[in-house]
Amino acid sequence: PQALPEPFRIKMVEPLALPSRDTRETALRASHYNMFQLKSRDVYLDLLTDSGTGAMSKAQWAALMNGDESYAGADSFYTLKKTLQELLGFDHFLPMHQGRAAEHVVFSSLAREGDLIPMNMPFDTTRAHIFQARAQPLSCVVEEAYQPEVDAPFKGNVDLSKLEAALAQHPHSRRIPLVMVTVTNNSGGGQPVSLENLRACARLTRARGIPLFLDAARMAENAYFIQQREASCRNLTCAQILRRMMDCADAITVSCKKDPLVNIGGLVAMRTEALYYQLAPRTILHEGYLSYGGLAGRDLEALAIGLREMVDEEYLAHRVSQVRYLGDLLTEAGVPILRPVGGHAVFIDAGAFLPHIPQRCYPADVLSVELYREGAIRGVGLGALAFEDTDPVTGRKKLPRLELFRLAIPRRAYTNHHMAYVAKCVAAVHQRRASIRHGLKLVQDSPVPGLSHFVARLEPT
Ligand code: F0G
Repeated sequence: PQALPEPFRIKMVEPLALPSRDTRETALRASHYNMFQLKSRDVYLDLLTDSGTGAMSKAQWAALMNGDESYAGADSFYTLKKTLQELLGFDHFLPMHQGRAAEHVVFSSLAREGDLIPMNMPFDTTRAHIFQARAQPLSCVVEEAYQPEVDAPFKGNVDLSKLEAALAQHPHSRRIPLVMVTVTNNSGGGQPVSLENLRACARLTRARGIPLFLDAARMAENAYFIQQREASCRNLTCAQILRRMMDCADAITVSCKKDPLVNIGGLVAMRTEALYYQLAPRTILHEGYLSYGGLAGRDLEALAIGLREMVDEEYLAHRVSQVRYLGDLLTEAGVPILRPVGGHAVFIDAGAFLPHIPQRCYPADVLSVELYREGAIRGVGLGALAFEDTDPVTGRKKLPRLELFRLAIPRRAYTNHHMAYVAKCVAAVHQRRASIRHGLKLVQDSPVPGLSHFVARLEPT
């Protein structure tokens, strides 16, 4: 396996240290075996998330000084507005403090009790916000998304017959206020959605007058995969492909902490003034005035630059090759990972890695604990603890179909050598997997549905 060399050099250094074995054991107990409760100083390589953890460029740091901190109508707002018009083609937008704020504003403004929200797959906070609106998400992703070992180019695609069947309910038995497609599909392994599939979703939703939203947190990585894998797009730049993806959507929600390369920020962008004004009241109530939405003017400046940097071809080629490099090293070591490797993370099939630990004992989270123990590396379990469903009618618990352990790679922050260290540690855990006897049990849960993994206290069984 090989990765492209880093297309940047390091200007400022953040020292890291490997904590001792004793420190790690103490930290595990103190965190109640929950990676979200670890102190970052006790972590060597932090692959908990690729969200807000990337490195800004020198152009972004320089732009902070241009921040206009006016309450209303700041220059920084108009700089960002122009960028979004030029890059994505949306005439209207609302800044938000991060992606889940965009989800809150969208779902609390547009969804009502009993509504259905068809998606490819919802990520954790998206799902929790749909529940908060007393609506129900419906996964319409293609079947291959649930088959980690099946190598297919666009495992984030929407199954159009599932979507069509869902849409047929509107407005008779269930109201559908919007359809949302996540690019790339985080819950299903950072897998891309093809341009052809996005266009087909747009045709279906437009025919019924239902708005199509994209959750576009990882839109640039999705565009890169389209360039590499969709024959009709081979000769287009990632920026051109991105624009074609956006042309399918009526609106987008974005966690700008991912592809747009900032440490904090989010937005909703839309085509019509009508939608803008539907979302404006809750933005003012919960985020801030319409021209800053919970961010500082300097944040808006850094974001305007990050949005342009995210479609740089060399940056994207390295980014995706670094993640794939880690995945290929793991495959070479015999570790069962979700194939093909996604855009922002390597997802280990924890069910296949620890087949002797039942899913209700949280194998993905057991793997988190063991990898931290092995090499002070922090990943995140995305399995039963994060995604268990309660049937709205029977109240019965339903385990999710995927039990994944995610190693998310922050952007421009770690080197290819770090990836080799991660692979070595995962391989060491894999070697001793049969001796991992204990599962985990939940001793304290979240009172709010969908948030267990963030706050749970766990104990070895
Ligand atoms: N949508 C997707 C697809 C996400 O992956 C996330 C966050 C959000 C929305 C919410 O955005 O964090 O800015 O509020 N995902 C992070 C992760 C946290 O680790 O994958 P946010």
